[in-house]
Amino acid sequence: MDFQWYPGHMTKAKRMMQESMKLIDIMIELVDARIPLSSRNPDIDQLAAGKYRLILLNKYDMADDQVTAEWEKYFKAKGFFVAKTNSKSGKGVKATQNIILEACREKLERDRRRGIKNRPIRAMIAGIPNVGKSTFINSLAGRACTKTGNKPGVTKGKQWIKLNKNIELLDTPGILWPKFEDQTVGLRLALIGSIRDEILNQDEMAIELIEYLKHHYSGILEKRYQVDESEDRVKILNAIAENRNCRMKGNELDYEKAAKILLEEFRNGKLGRISLEVPGEEA
Ligand code: G4P
Repeated sequence: MDFQWYPGHMTKAKRMMQESMKLIDIMIELVDARIPLSSRNPDIDQLAAGKYRLILLNKYDMADDQVTAEWEKYFKAKGFFVAKTNSKSGKGVKATQNIILEACREKLERDRRRGIKNRPIRAMIAGIPNVGKSTFINSLAGRACTKTGNKPGVTKGKQWIKLNKNIELLDTPGILWPKFEDQTVGLRLALIGSIRDEILNQDEMAIELIEYLKHHYSGILEKRYQVDESEDRVKILNAIAENRNCRMKGNELDYEKAAKILLEEFRNGKLGRISLEVPGEEA
């Protein structure tokens, strides 16, 4: 993934989403369960004003279950429908169909009262790059999906995937850009491997990760790398380099290599299921 955002891209992406807004009933927003706020763009609230809303905590298989449960409560309290999904394995994906209908119940009842039959709910998927939008759409629609094609009155080029007789999904997801201007957001996106153009170098990222793990997941570093977690974070990186025998020519410790190993093992889930954001201490 190598996503570059320029003002031109942002304007185009926003315009495409705005155009689709009038066609849909519900906005399904994917966020990364490990960083539900940093992987959002709050502009979506304005864009999707007046629409039913569903937030999917995707990649929950990589996040801390307890923290994910807190995020579910957090978003529900803000009036969103919420579910957790693992789009890669498909876990929780099919169940979103019922949640979509539940979220749009009011509209379905209104249609029924007015004698309108067979008007499907129309949904759009949106989220920042790499959050799993395509994987989710493929998993939900499956191979058997039928594209309804263009219909009279629908903007040319818009393709709908018929999930069942009640729900149609726009086949192109809306792309939102992250809040780059916030350094913490940039760091968290870089840590989960969501942006390749890291805002920090690998040593700095590793050191930030060590600090976070020391406070939120004590024991993990000690167990995996046999390091003393009471030491300061730079010394811990040092100890990881020693533990993994990361050395340069002349036998000097290679911090950069140790940082790479730590980041890779974190991203591959080797350190366990870890959330980098907790409600209440998001900033
Ligand atoms: P996007 O359309 O929003 O840009 O994201 P996309 O579907 O391309 O997914 C980005 C990466 O995230 C993919 O990995 C995808 O497999 C992975 N992914 C999506 N949903 C989940 C999930 O719920 N859990 C996990 N663990 N991973 C998920 P990739 O590295 O690009 O490819 P690969 O690892 O599948 O080979």
